[in-house]
Amino acid sequence: MRIDIVSIFPQYLAPLELSLVGKARDAGLLDVRVHDLRDHATDKHRSVDDTPYGGGPGMVMMAEPWGAALDAIRADAKADPWLVIPTPSGYRFDQPTATTLASHEHLVFACGRYEGIDARVAEHYAARSDWAGVLEYSIGDYVLGGGEAAALVMVEAAVRLIPGVLGNAESAADDSFSKEAGPALEGPVFTKPPKWRELEVPEVLLSGDHGRIAAWRKERARERTQQRRPDLT
Ligand code: ADE
Repeated sequence: MRIDIVSIFPQYLAPLELSLVGKARDAGLLDVRVHDLRDHATDKHRSVDDTPYGGGPGMVMMAEPWGAALDAIRADAKADPWLVIPTPSGYRFDQPTATTLASHEHLVFACGRYEGIDARVAEHYAARSDWAGVLEYSIGDYVLGGGEAAALVMVEAAVRLIPGVLGNAESAADDSFSKEAGPALEGPVFTKPPKWRELEVPEVLLSGDHGRIAAWRKERARERTQQRRPDLT
């Protein structure tokens, strides 16, 4: 999979060199390229924003530098890319959405700041036959300073679903929210030692009785989901 990320803060994406995503890159499963939007600005101040038509607070990112940046990426891409725009006004990003992203050959993230990106950018790339489509996603009902943190979230959620990225092929299957598990949170987990600061690991988990253990885990997951996320039951 190839992922390009365009931002006015390319250093914000440095964590993509670490951990799971960094390892996927090292293993050749993933090609990540980060671009500075200001390299495509046309004036001497390297401006990328301007005041909104119709008035109102804040600034809007101009279509021109975005068009130049995205066309440059398309020019050296093999497959038609999907344009992903993180925005609090987007469709909800969730586990099924992450699975869909993970199935695509090439993703391009356009990280907006300020009041967002001129709406003609999304409209233009949605109509382009050499782009696969445009996806506008929100990672939750809160407003971030820009799309970078949201792009990091979406990239990590998608990359861990690429075959070969997780060490144990099974480990994505019983995650909270996965299709197989149903819409339930995972219950509590424990490891050694069996007693820590007077707190003991539930006896059933030490019993070796796989049937009882599975039933116990299912019940704890059900309880937790009811308590914390009744909307998922
Ligand atoms: N940009 C700002 N807030 C955001 C959010 N909640 N999700 C995605 N992108 C954003």
